[in-house]
Amino acid sequence: MYVCVCLAVSDHEVQSAIEGGATTREAVTRICGAGGDCGACHGMIATMIEDHVEESGPIVCCPPASATSERLVPETALVRTRAA
Ligand code: FES
Repeated sequence: MYVCVCLAVSDHEVQSAIEGGATTREAVTRICGAGGDCGACHGMIATMIEDHVEESGPIVCCPPASATSERLVPETALVRTRAA
């Protein structure tokens, strides 16, 4: 079933974006394109995000203390930038 008719994005693609970490409609749009045109599907996308949050529990924003000792990205891979 299409969630976003304008851009022919299916419910599976939107669900995949949400399960991949998209927690806002804007994030879903960036990932799969859904919601990037007329906006008629924004409500459906928001509902899918809300359903996912209800099913999976609260969003954890920080890793548990036990996981912070291991870096996810090596220090050498980080690039420092200057503020504009
Ligand atoms: S139906 Fe999704 S942007 Fe129009």
